[in-house]
Amino acid sequence: EAQHCRACVLAKTRTTVVFGEGSIDADLVFVGEGPGEDEDRSGRPFVGRAGQLLTKMITAMGLTREDVYICNMVKCRPPGNRNPEPAEALACEPFLHRQIDLIKPKLIIALGKVAATNLLAREASVTSLRNRIHQYRGIPLIVTYHPAYLLRSLQEKARAWEDLCFAVDTMQGLINSGSETI
Ligand code: URA
Repeated sequence: EAQHCRACVLAKTRTTVVFGEGSIDADLVFVGEGPGEDEDRSGRPFVGRAGQLLTKMITAMGLTREDVYICNMVKCRPPGNRNPEPAEALACEPFLHRQIDLIKPKLIIALGKVAATNLLAREASVTSLRNRIHQYRGIPLIVTYHPAYLLRSLQEKARAWEDLCFAVDTMQGLINSGSETI
């Protein structure tokens, strides 16, 4: 369905639909912004420089890319890597809903402001949203910086590390409590 989607203008300029990849049984789902050039070409999420940093972040959490599920708010590359328009994110969101509903992760990590503000349907900075447990479709969600931002802003890496530790602790708590409530 996604491969043939023409619900927004991004369909006109995409090379490949980048649906997402990882484990259907993942406890943890990462949601980024949208495919960049490398992802558009390869059809896989987070494979460029930011993706390499995301892979390191996942490893630092004691996990592999195969353990988690990685996808984006929009499945097609916005031209020139501009931010997806709210209408594009809205048009694409039914795919994300079905990904989340099928995988039923214990935790979602929103990577960066675009993913966070679209998922939480409110305008706010990453700094104000991090360090708290939000909800998306009944699933606990935490917010951290986008790896592309971390590549440019080294001083935020320490905060991102705190967020990853918070995510690991939260997930552990959810697994130990049978995940029904937190
Ligand atoms: N940035 C994103 O938000 N997603 C990708 O897949 C790659 C870079």
